Amino acid sequence: MLTIITGAQFGDEGKGKIVDHLAENYDIVARFQGGDNAGHTVVVGDEVYKVHQIPSGILVGTNALIGPGVVLNPFSLTEEMKMLQDRGIVITNENFGIDTKASLIMPYHISMDILSEASRKNRVGTTQKGIAYAYADRVLRNEIRLGDLFDEDRFYQKLNAILPAKKEVIAKLGGNPYDLFPDEEAKRLLKIGKELQHYAVDVSYVINSSLRAGKKVLAEGAQGALLDVVHGTQKYVTSSSTIAGSACTGLGIGPSQVTKTIGLVKAYVTRVGNGPFPTELTDADGEHMVTVGNEFGTTTGRKRRCGWLDMPLLKKSANLNGYTELVLTKLDVLSGLETIKICAAYDLDGERIDYPPSLSEDLERCVPVYTENDGWDETLGEIRNFFDLPPNARKFVEYIEKKNGIPFSYISVGPKREQIIKMDVRRRDVRYNPIMRPLF
Ligand code: GDP
Ligand code: IMO
Ligand code: MG
Repeated sequence: MLTIITGAQFGDEGKGKIVDHLAENYDIVARFQGGDNAGHTVVVGDEVYKVHQIPSGILVGTNALIGPGVVLNPFSLTEEMKMLQDRGIVITNENFGIDTKASLIMPYHISMDILSEASRKNRVGTTQKGIAYAYADRVLRNEIRLGDLFDEDRFYQKLNAILPAKKEVIAKLGGNPYDLFPDEEAKRLLKIGKELQHYAVDVSYVINSSLRAGKKVLAEGAQGALLDVVHGTQKYVTSSSTIAGSACTGLGIGPSQVTKTIGLVKAYVTRVGNGPFPTELTDADGEHMVTVGNEFGTTTGRKRRCGWLDMPLLKKSANLNGYTELVLTKLDVLSGLETIKICAAYDLDGERIDYPPSLSEDLERCVPVYTENDGWDETLGEIRNFFDLPPNARKFVEYIEKKNGIPFSYISVGPKREQIIKMDVRRRDVRYNPIMRPLF
């Protein structure tokens, strides 16, 4: 049984928390794309864990795999492993594996990311982790894979063929090419490679064998559907495919294996970095979301842009991912707002549309058309039953479900593991409806 979980918005929907919650029912959790640009937070009691490359499920003792679809920063990965081990999380080659073919993020990728962002007028606002440049080298067949570190001669042969061109690019971008990846760094990388060799596996083989043996696998996405390199708000996107189909290509599994596809939806929208954001708020309601929701980036610490929930964008995410169920997160953050708005449609150059236009340039001009409801004052953190939610909060949840035609399986009401409402006790009057006919 294979479940895929992806962010339905611009990332930071609470994937870490929900994967941690679901993982105890799975045998394997696997990351399939992205790199250490991701930052997934898991709160266990008083402990806060921030993981960037290791699947969040490792915290509950589920086996964790990093698939070949990711770009791997070996330096930060070993630091992350050490951070978890120092805090008592067991990581051995019995419960953790990395694909031998994972492409490496090299120091020159990071320099190129930083320098090219600095030289641009219209910055993407990347995490400066070298993601685009590492993926570009994969597509150019110019990559160094994890497995290349296991053979010193092969590694140096590849590196020596690659470095002169990288030095040229970095000099052109205004950087200093001379201290780029000195030999002691190459030696340190080879040493890290020897440590990581211990964990190297063929993830596709492990997952397919496990599925055949009846095991349950959870594929954990990074970023969100609207940051997808093809389907997102280009050019303000990340450089990987972030939608559910990417789990198949990134892990090496056939689509026929997929049982469920879960989409994570924050009760409002946040975005880090630049790019179109029709419902963005710059008023007191937006500040409420930043402060109450603690909306600061897990990886870069940047303040996240905040705005109202956007149904046209959510409909698009549902199409891109084929969600069979949704999880609503951070509903508790909306407590205390006098009026809650949801963007039901857009006005684009005088025309009313309820699905986003294809191009970012057109999305930039979309003016949200809101539906409004009264808010609620009650705090939600202690609520564990849907029917104990304030009536206006229930109305908010049901509006989204009905408009989307996809049921929520959980509602998260706080950062902690136990702050969650399971929805299957509730009578189901919502069925998946691919036409997504609005009821309001
Ligand atoms: P991810 O990248 O999707 O894993 O999300 P992040 O970890 O970057 O950001 C989500 C933040 O919201 C983290 O600080 C979580 O601890 C927190 N969080 C997750 N779910 C909830 C929730 O339901 N309510 C509140 N208040 N915080 C939450
Ligand atoms: P998680 O997994 C939110 C954003 C960056 C920037 C764009 C491109 O924690 O949800 P990149 O460094 O990937 O080239 O930057 O993508 N971005 C994220 N935003 N959450 C993330 O990951 C993100 N990873 C990248 O802010 O706008
Ligand atoms: Mg995050």
